[in-house]
Amino acid sequence: MISKRLQDAREFEDAYVPKIDEEERPAFHVTGGIGWINDPNGFSVYRGEYHLFFQYHPYSNIWGPMHWGHVKTHDFIRWERLPVAMAPDTPADKDGCFSGTALELPDGRQLLAYTGVNRKRRDDGLIEEYQHQCVAFGDGIDYEKYEGNPVITGEHLPEDGSHLDFRDPKIWLENGTFYLIAGNRTRRGSGAIRLFESPDALNWKYVTTIDACHNELGKMWECPDFFPLDGKQVLIVSPQEMEPQGLEFHAGYGSIALMGSWDSEKKVFDREKVQSIDYGIDFYAPQTLLTPDGRRVMIAWMQNWTTCNCKPPKTRFFGQMTLPRELSIRDGRLCQEPVRELINYRGRRVHWDNVMVTGNTTLKGVKGRLIDMTVTIRPAGVGASYGAFQIHLAQDGEHVTTIRYKLATSVLRVDRSRSGFPYDIVHVRNIPVRFRQGELKLRIVMDRNTLEIFVNDGEQAASFILYTPITSDIISFETIDGTALLDVEKYDLKFGPTED
Ligand code: FRU
Repeated sequence: MISKRLQDAREFEDAYVPKIDEEERPAFHVTGGIGWINDPNGFSVYRGEYHLFFQYHPYSNIWGPMHWGHVKTHDFIRWERLPVAMAPDTPADKDGCFSGTALELPDGRQLLAYTGVNRKRRDDGLIEEYQHQCVAFGDGIDYEKYEGNPVITGEHLPEDGSHLDFRDPKIWLENGTFYLIAGNRTRRGSGAIRLFESPDALNWKYVTTIDACHNELGKMWECPDFFPLDGKQVLIVSPQEMEPQGLEFHAGYGSIALMGSWDSEKKVFDREKVQSIDYGIDFYAPQTLLTPDGRRVMIAWMQNWTTCNCKPPKTRFFGQMTLPRELSIRDGRLCQEPVRELINYRGRRVHWDNVMVTGNTTLKGVKGRLIDMTVTIRPAGVGASYGAFQIHLAQDGEHVTTIRYKLATSVLRVDRSRSGFPYDIVHVRNIPVRFRQGELKLRIVMDRNTLEIFVNDGEQAASFILYTPITSDIISFETIDGTALLDVEKYDLKFGPTED
């Protein structure tokens, strides 16, 4: 049964989405139909297609009562919009359908596990928000919420678990048993990831706490994911209120990967290493899926909570997802590269090899805002050196976004302060990059107003939103203090019917 609230959201989309010019959107990054989106939800395979849901408030470009928007794809690049999947329309989720995940069931149905939100006014007048876990079952378009929702409440938690901050279930099925992890705040304020198990996805019991931050890596841990990768076990979480640590973690909201081993019999996660997942500004709440050909692919909200209200005022749709990225572990680091399907959309190729760059230069054919460009920089000869190398993107004489690599410190600095943002917020990130004798390889993917940088074959990634006019497409290269050698391979990305 489709509720009035869900029907309203679907009709609202039908009425207003066609009024937004497709050229206003990124070409291959997922956006909501209209209004506001945040976290990716339910990123999963269902009936041979990749489905993605997302936190959605279609009625305005700011956060509001959460619905689940829905898209699907065959190749992670071209997405098809589907009707809104869920609205906050039952007693268990009347104040919001918060983040969660999806699973294809052996009987052919698609299961959604999500957080239902319920606000209650306390005796002293303050409002408290109770969060609990719910399920819904569907066919890839329409979903029926389980009448017994919520299926996991604060009552299932161990004694130190807050019933208020308890959200974002990740569900999976292993040897006939359902498992679910969710983020939870302990009563001392810090984050913990709780594991539950169930024979049927309806009746759950608490098993253990997989990991907890003890107020060291932020406070509340949101949006967990948990999976094996290249012989390790990875726990992904998005902490709130992080403290900076060198250049690895910045203050505020972050997304981190905790890598270690998992004893699935004893249910013990042994954490060995922690790193940032993305070193840019616009990245939060990632989640992953496993493709039928064995790739672990991650997608995230390409925005962040601190600056999300600093958008150009007339934005009719707000927020987009990152490019889906293939994960691997190399030399103990979580690495990520754009999904390989992106190369199918490469059009015209321009390449320059061994260009000696002294001062600032443009290269014929190297410009654009819908591009997949790999740049390699190295010293001009044995024993040669340079002070810094800069790549200036999305320029028009007034606007510019600059990527600078300083050899002495091996720090990559991205500065979008002159990219057209109408607010004076954080616009610079400094990224510590592995020193390779002055050689640096960057893959730069731009999709109109998005910029994603993959450093040294994905050892690091950094994501940024730019509000630069789409026509500002000049790219230039600059060596400071010396000469550097440059290779550039640039492809225009093609999506129209008249592809090269
Ligand atoms: C993370 C988050 C989740 C929550 C959702 C609400 O960005 O705060 O924890 O489920 O957003 O929209």
